[in-house]
Amino acid sequence: MEKKKRVLVKFSGEALAGENGFGIEPKILSYIAEEIASLLEAGIEVGIVIGGGNIIRGVSAAQGGVIRRTSGDYMGMLATVINAVAMQEALEHSGVDVRVQSAIEIKEICESYIYRRAIRHLEKGRVVIFAAGTGNPFFTTDTTATLRAVEIGADYVIKATKVDGVYDKDPKKYPDAKRLDTISYDAALAENIKVMDDTAIALAKDNRLPIIVCNMFKAGNLLEIVRDGKGVFSVVR
Ligand code: GTP
Repeated sequence: MEKKKRVLVKFSGEALAGENGFGIEPKILSYIAEEIASLLEAGIEVGIVIGGGNIIRGVSAAQGGVIRRTSGDYMGMLATVINAVAMQEALEHSGVDVRVQSAIEIKEICESYIYRRAIRHLEKGRVVIFAAGTGNPFFTTDTTATLRAVEIGADYVIKATKVDGVYDKDPKKYPDAKRLDTISYDAALAENIKVMDDTAIALAKDNRLPIIVCNMFKAGNLLEIVRDGKGVFSVVR
């Protein structure tokens, strides 16, 4: 049997927030669910990691010194569970089978992360949303995405953003900024490009996991990239 393509899609919590930058905008949830559904229809296996920044960010919560960073990060992990449950609803609404697995046990709300079970879900054509980060403070959801992508043997991790990829300089400041098709892991680490944090990039590098950076808000772009290797994106490898 031909091996199916398997990808891990990571998007930020802020992506769910819409104009106001906070909370969850149902229209955006539905849009993302439809984009993910199109991947499933094309026979692609999909894992998802969502950030929590639309609800709370551990680092910012800790800034006043009242909340310790560790607690702030745990609060952030809980935020990702809220986003995962919302995304689960939206995906089911779009006719997609989906399971949420949390790195922190919250068994009344969702399954716990069990690697072998996650694989079975994927093989059965279900989306698996990996919630609660890695279950550890001081690790970002980008690192979670990279870790889970490596664990499930994804072909690559996709950082789905609002921009078309990685640029040689800030495209908001410099109109002549050029999108880079390919960047090496070492350049991404050395040049402070901030595609992902250094921990995530180093983990990807160690495991030769390509990181694709693309615009999730261009309808059809995700499918074109994964199914056809076309579309607009940058790849770190
Ligand atoms: P198969 O065994 O492949 O049929 O997978 P399945 O996920 O359909 O089977 P299972 O009976 O394990 O799960 C049925 C439903 O219960 C799914 O929606 C699961 O996500 C959910 N579920 C399973 N385990 C837990 C748990 O520990 N907590 C919560 N809240 N839900 C769970």
